Amino acid sequence: MIGEEVSFFVLSDGSNFVSFGTAQDHKRALDNDKGLNTGGMGAYSPAPILTPQFEKQVMDRIISPVLKEMANQNMPFTGVLYAGIILTLSGPQLIEFNVRFGDPECQVLMQRLETDLFDILNAVATGNLSRLAPIKWSDDFAITVVMASKNYPDTPIKGDTISLPSNIDTNDFIFHAGTKLSNNHQLVTNGGRVLNITSKAPTLKQAHDNAYDLVRQISWENSFYRSDIGHKEIFRQSKK
Ligand code: GLY
Repeated sequence: MIGEEVSFFVLSDGSNFVSFGTAQDHKRALDNDKGLNTGGMGAYSPAPILTPQFEKQVMDRIISPVLKEMANQNMPFTGVLYAGIILTLSGPQLIEFNVRFGDPECQVLMQRLETDLFDILNAVATGNLSRLAPIKWSDDFAITVVMASKNYPDTPIKGDTISLPSNIDTNDFIFHAGTKLSNNHQLVTNGGRVLNITSKAPTLKQAHDNAYDLVRQISWENSFYRSDIGHKEIFRQSKK
């Protein structure tokens, strides 16, 4: 399948389901989608390339038939359904289902979520999705840039001391993924994807610039990151 990939999220309580936002991940290790396939080197949300018209097609042709058939077969699906969608020239096609929030998609979805996540997941788990008030989202864009350790996704180098800024903006977050405290209480790398540098702003370009400003204030010896997260969408938006 040829086309851009979009992550589309749905919550189902077994009988009812609601869409739960979109994001676009960047799976290859290096800029311009070069290098090895990874778990994801950065993401932004929402993904405007999945237009309301495409979203309706995904719901009607992919999500709804699957969830209804599972219920018909007495194995209703309860939880998070994450559809990997390729936007082909002939419309959205499903490449895979996951049953979880994506990583790093979750980091950007959660920045924009304004309804309490506990209330939402409680409604999902107890079959009360139809009684839940509409889920509220910020109109802002959120972006996350993964800072990884050299040799990820093969055998990343571990144990480098990480230098972090002492203060960050309230719209910025640093999520720890592959870190630990060493015996002498220093923060060191301990995995392939080490930190997710996340920012939220009214435009994707602003969120992108803020996130990369913060990335440049963080360092360790063997770090690397993609410098083009969100660039295709920022380019599309600059042409409007
Ligand atoms: N970011 C892709 C995944 O979580 O599967």
